[in-house]
Amino acid sequence: MAERLFFALPVSISSQMALIKHQAHLGQLGRVVPATNFHLTLAFLGQVTQKQKEALLDRWQELEVPRLKLTLNRYLHFPKAGVVCLGCDQPPIALNRLAAQLRRDAAQHGLHNHRAPFRPHVTLFRGVHEVTELPEPTPVTLELNEVQLMRSHREMGKLIYSPLVRWHAP
Ligand code: 2AM
Repeated sequence: MAERLFFALPVSISSQMALIKHQAHLGQLGRVVPATNFHLTLAFLGQVTQKQKEALLDRWQELEVPRLKLTLNRYLHFPKAGVVCLGCDQPPIALNRLAAQLRRDAAQHGLHNHRAPFRPHVTLFRGVHEVTELPEPTPVTLELNEVQLMRSHREMGKLIYSPLVRWHAP
């Protein structure tokens, strides 16, 4: 059976706290993303079969995780996806490179092919179809040193993200 998978960077508890404050500050823009679901997507893979997953893990056995800081300093509204996020306008080169490698690999192996450029963000609200102006946020700096292969599924209607594999920075 196929699973919906994506590569993501986890968000530490202290950053989760800071992001919850942003949600409170913005008010009820849409459905609030629970803090346990906060993540920064590097590459969305789509539906992945068991065989494709095994091949993917073989290819990424030696995934090198950079140790870096990422300052999220812009609220972003993606109207097509209906989400409001805290994002970053100048990602570190190492992060762009990692996302590009994972995305290229996915496309080359018949998984999701990203057409839009990588814009690092953490989603705060879903189901947002109308927003007027978003204020300037207080920046949040994430310390990144781990990549996770995540599975997205629903349990009793609730969206659950579970890490299947973790890679750590040296
Ligand atoms: P986002 O919330 O960071 O934008 C699991 O479904 C995750 O993969 C979602 O949280 C979403 O990330 C991302 N995702 C889902 N569909 C996607 C798509 N078509 N293109 C890019 N990212 C997608």
